[in-house]
Order: sequence, then C-alpha cells, then structure tokens
Amino acid sequence: LRGRSLSVTSLSGLPQWEVEELPIEDLLLFEVAWEVTNKVGGIYTVIQTKAKTTADEWGDNYFLIGPYFEHNLKTQVEQCEPVNDAVRRAMDSMNKHGCQVHFGRWLIEGSPYVVLFDIGYSAWNLDRWKGDLWEACSVGIPYHDREANDMLIFGSLTAWFLKEVTDNADGKHVIAQFHEWQAGTGLILSRARKLPIATIFTTHATLLGRYLCAANIDFYNHLDKFNIDKEAGERQIYHRYCMERASVHCAHVFTTVSEITAIEAEHMLKRKPDVVTPNGLNVKKFSAVHEFQNLHAMYKARIQDFVRGHFYGHLDFDLEKTLFLFIAGRYEFSNKGADIFLEALSRLNFLLRVHKSDVTVVVFFIMPAKTNNFNVETLKGQAVRKQLWDIAHSVKEKFGKKLYDALLRGEIPDMDNILDRDDITIMKRAIFSTQRQSLPPVTTHNMIDDSTDPILSTIRRIGLFNSRTDRVKVILHPEFLSSTSPLLPMDYEEFVRGCHLGVFPSYYEPWGYTPAECTVMGIPSVTTNLSGFGCFMQEHVADPTAYGIYIVDRRFRSPDDSCNQLTQFLYGFCKQSRRQRIIQRNRTERLSDLLDWRYLGRYYQHARYLTLSRAFPDKFHMEPTSPPTTEGFKYPRPSSVPPSPSGSQVSSPQSSDVEDEEEDERYNEEEEAERDRLNIKSPFSPGRVPRGKKKLHGEYKN
Ligand code: UDP
Ligand code: G6P
Ligand code: GLC
Repeated sequence: LRGRSLSVTSLSGLPQWEVEELPIEDLLLFEVAWEVTNKVGGIYTVIQTKAKTTADEWGDNYFLIGPYFEHNLKTQVEQCEPVNDAVRRAMDSMNKHGCQVHFGRWLIEGSPYVVLFDIGYSAWNLDRWKGDLWEACSVGIPYHDREANDMLIFGSLTAWFLKEVTDNADGKHVIAQFHEWQAGTGLILSRARKLPIATIFTTHATLLGRYLCAANIDFYNHLDKFNIDKEAGERQIYHRYCMERASVHCAHVFTTVSEITAIEAEHMLKRKPDVVTPNGLNVKKFSAVHEFQNLHAMYKARIQDFVRGHFYGHLDFDLEKTLFLFIAGRYEFSNKGADIFLEALSRLNFLLRVHKSDVTVVVFFIMPAKTNNFNVETLKGQAVRKQLWDIAHSVKEKFGKKLYDALLRGEIPDMDNILDRDDITIMKRAIFSTQRQSLPPVTTHNMIDDSTDPILSTIRRIGLFNSRTDRVKVILHPEFLSSTSPLLPMDYEEFVRGCHLGVFPSYYEPWGYTPAECTVMGIPSVTTNLSGFGCFMQEHVADPTAYGIYIVDRRFRSPDDSCNQLTQFLYGFCKQSRRQRIIQRNRTERLSDLLDWRYLGRYYQHARYLTLSRAFPDKFHMEPTSPPTTEGFKYPRPSSVPPSPSGSQVSSPQSSDVEDEEEDERYNEEEEAERDRLNIKSPFSPGRVPRGKKKLHGEYKN
C-alpha cells in the first residue's frame, strides 16, 4: 500500500510543505507526559495546545497518557469507555491486576482521549519495579526521592499498558512519544522488553542544564568542559540524570524543542537530537481583525482597577500614562532572568526620574512561591477602592434624582445645596480612609520565606519600595493568576492581554512559552538569544524589534551589558506614544502564523515518520531523512519602519503624541496592517516547495 494523498498546507505566506499522509487507520499514536491534564509548566502548554492538530490528523487513534489526580479528572476530563479494542483490553487487564486506570476525553480543543494511571494505587509494586529498572539498565532510585519513585511507577504502568496494547493491536503499528525524563522510564522498560513500538523521546530541558544554570555557572561557554557524571553526582541527581540519559539513548528518535537545547543535549546527554520540534500554539483568529486591540483596552481597565486599589492614597500618577509590564512563570529566579529584570528596573527608575518622564511603570512578578494567603494591606486596598466606588455610586444616584426632580419642576437646581451635609460627611470620611501610614506593598501575599526570598531581597537591596517618587512600581504576585481570585480576578490570558509588555530575559529557557503567548495575543515582549523562542524569532523575522520582539543578547555580552541593553529596551518602550504602541501591537500579532501548530506541527509529523522508518524498516521507508526546513524564510521588515535601529532604539515610525481616543481608533484600521501584510510574502511563491526543501516519503507496504 503506497502512502496516501498529498497534503499541502500554507498559512498566509509561510513556506508550504508536502507530506505524504500516514495510513493512520493502521496505526495507534500514544503521547506520554506527566503534564497530561496536570499543569506544572510549559510542557502542559505543548500537550494541551497541540491536541487539536494532532487529534484532527489522528482522530480516534490518538491517546494521551498521564497521571491520575482526582481534582484534575473531575475538572478537566469527561470519563467514558474506550472504543478502541486494544486500549479497552489493556485497561481491563491492568484493572484486574490491581491497577486503577481511568479513561476519558480531555475537555480541551480537539477532545483527545486520555489514559490516566493512579500512581498511589499501584505504589505497593514499587520495590519490584525498582528491581525491573535495575535489571533493564542498572539504574537504582534512592527511597527518599519521592518524585523519581513516582516516575518509576508511572513508567512501569505505561510500559505495562503498552505491552497489553501491542498484544491486542491486531496488526496495527504503535508509535509512542515520551516527553521529558519523568515519562522516560516507560520508554526504557518498553525497549528493554522489546515491545514492537516505534519510540520518540522529547526533552524540553536537560536536568543538568537547568541545575548548572541555576547555580550561576557560565554554562554556554563551558558546554564541552563539564564532567557531567560528576556534576550530576554532586547535585544529588545522578539517578535522575541516568533515567534521562537512558531514555534518550533508548529512543528510536530523539527530539527537542529548539536549536539551542539541541546543542545542550549533545553535551549533557551525549546524543544529537534527530529532529528539532519548535513549540507552537493553537492560534485563534478573531473575525474582527482588531478584536485583540479591543480586548487589550478591556482587560487593561481591569488591571487599572486593581492598581487603583493597590495604590490607594498614593494615586498621584496618571493611569492613562501608566504602562503595565510583567514577568511570569515558574519561580526560577536567575534562570528566568528575574535577577537582571530587577536590576534593569532600578536603572529604568533612575532614567525616568532624571528625564522627568510623566510615564509610570507598574511591574508585576507572577511567580508562584510558598505563601500564607494574601496580606491584609493588599486586601484592604481593594476594599477601600470598592468602598469609594460604592459611595461615589450612591451619591451619584441621589444627585441624579434631585437633578431630575428639579428639571421636572422646570428649575435648575441649586448646585451648592444639591448634596446634603450627610453626603459630604460620608465622602470626607471615605477620603480619610484612603490615608495610609505605609507605602503600597511590594507583594500581595504573606510570603513564608519573606526574609530570604530572592525577589523580595533584591527589591530591598535596590530600594524599589513603591514610594511616591519612584516611577517604577513593583508588585510580586507569588501565585498563578485565576479568574476566581478575590484580589485580581483574571485568568492569565486576560491579564496578558491587558498588559503592555511581557519581560522574559531568561538565561536558561529551552523554548519559553510566555513570550510566544504574548506574541499571538498581540502583546510585545522581551526575550533573549538564550531562549529557544528568541533564537527562532531571530532566525525567522528580519527586524524582530519592529515587530515588538525585543531580544536581549545574553550570549555574547557581559551580564552588565545585557542589563543595560534590557534597560534601553524598556526605556525606549516607555518613550513610545500610544499610537506607536498600537501600531507595534498590530505588528506583533501578525507574527502569530509563524507560531501556529498548523504550521509547526510538521516537525512532529516528521519525527513520527522517522521513528516508524527506524522501528519498522521493512514496512516503512523514508527518503530523505532530513527534517522539513524553513531555511531562508524570514518575515521582512515592516514597510513603514526605517532601517533596523540600534539595539537601544525603538523601531517604530516616529509620530507626535496622540492622546485622543478617536485618533487612536483610526490606527486600529486595517490600512497599515494591509500594506505590511502585502509585503509579508514568503520568498516562495504559492504552490512551490521551498528551495532546499525535499519531499518526504512515508511509504507503507503491506
Ligand atoms: N502560566 C500560567 N499562569 C500564570 C503564569 C504562567 O498558566 O499565571 C503558564 C504560561 O501560560 C506558560 C507556562 O505557564 O504556558 C510557562 O511555560 P514556559 O515554557 O514559559 O516555562 P516553563 O515553566 O515550562 O519553564
Ligand atoms: C487599543 C484600543 C484603543 C486604546 C488603546 C490603548 O488599541 O483599541 O481604543 O486607545 O488600545 O493603548 P495603550 O497602549 O495606551 O494601552
Ligand atoms: C520546559 C522549558 C521551557 C519550555 C517548556 C515547553 O519547561 O523550561 O522553556 O517552553 O519546557 O517545551
């Protein structure tokens, strides 16, 4: 049987590609990750956003495997019976032998099937399974490493499940893709047991890379010099590192998320990845082109409300001239670049002050840490704001009624007496209640490790205490955002849309979803040339700054120089007029197609072809084995932009400050966008395969 119909996909001018479809009906695809239905960080985003394109392609033959957590199941999964015979039998058999396997549809776009293993329920097997792992690859796991033990249980259950599936697969070929070391044991055991499956291992970071960078070691200049066994041993992660490295070497195909992590993996894991699979997003286009600008205005108003409360009594700055910046993600202080961000903020504060700027910058740090709930001062701020709102509202009602009555009588009311003494008293009392003895707090929560917390310690050192004279104000929100929060009831996406700039000056960032998410929402962001995303944008966009992607050089500059560059980016951003920001957001949003899974999903397709051809060479063959490439493709510089600015300038058309809303709206019209869009043509004319790109053949003989 030859490969099926040709599929050619193209997105607004991006290079086209050709693949021969796999005979999906004769295959089963499993994707295994600890973050399936279980949000920890970016891997969840990979799995969750990719589900739609993969489910569209694979239909009922696509399954995700993850851990069972009661809360996640209840809130995210609709349980059902598996239709697929092999899967049903595998589950029945395992459940009969003392396991608890749950099945259902994950309630996300694409509604993929999920198979979830109850880890605790099977924990009684741990010692036996430790023995199995030792037999398979001589890796032992210490009893005190709870996480590694859980991963062994997860992996053992996965391998068991895959064994049952292949026993019942009825001639179907199985592909299993394992994400990160946490899922890797399933791969090691499957291979040790010689299960007939084609395997892919995807690393989203290396354990050693993350640890060494967090220890502030000059990582990228010493990649080839580390004694990696020794480093892993000294950091007490030797067994985890062995699990990771064994997974990498057992896989038919090894992939990672960016070129920079591919180089890292070559050194830290001693295998060059076969395919780089850049992370995409499930990009949704609004029917009204400028809907995202309206959403920005709408959610910004919500953030402004929060700020009104937080800074009560200190609202001597103009909210219309206040910019909202944020950093968000797992709390890895230096890896995520919170260290140089704070330093740059201190310098920015100085610049804004000496230049007597009327701009105020409010910076949010959204990084979860251990806390004891919200602090009283923060809650009080919102209560005060609400009280003032209620009073203003009730006085307005009274005023309106009296005014109406007077008009009915044919009189103009006496303005001096329209409010009675009680109203004035209430208002005065309310104003008194806004007086505060302390400065607006720099954190919203009671921090458990307040005195040693790295963000708070740095704030204390650089003295950014939200005083009146500071042009830069900081708020640490040490918890992920949620629409059910009593303090800032917004989900993360809404919050991002309402902000002006996301700042992610990471030192260690294999991909970095946070700036990518900003991009598809039309919010500019700062990233670095040490992040997978930053390098990807540098490669595919001629003038990233013009598109609102500021890439800090953390690779070839000293930390101090990088910090200065970041400061200049921030200062340049603050100097933009509203009109310039609107134009910049339009441009940023235009890069979305580049980050769409409908485009980037091809790398996953390629990895699947490749593993089939390696695991079942007599059934599948593939020519050539080079991955699809976008080599040479670049988004051109927007037409209205002067030639590339120096690192410190903002690449936007110059214009006078326009504060008038109506004027702004005109810039929301499509004219400029259309003109640029016409220029954003791929160097490859429609219908042509990009130069240097060869056709992939996936052939299935039967
Ligand atoms: N995120 C979130 N809520 C927040 C802040 C961040 O859900 O309040 C998500 C964000 O949308 C992103 C993920 O956390 O998808 C972080 O992924 P990234 O790749 O940037 O970093 P990782 O944590 O994987 O290192
Ligand atoms: C969007 C809205 C405009 C608003 C602007 C504010 O573009 O459509 O009505 O004026 O945002 O932009 P700013 O950068 O000042 O938040
Ligand atoms: C890891 C990396 C992050 C990446 C994510 C998804 O957690 O730290 O940079 O975006 O995986 O691949």
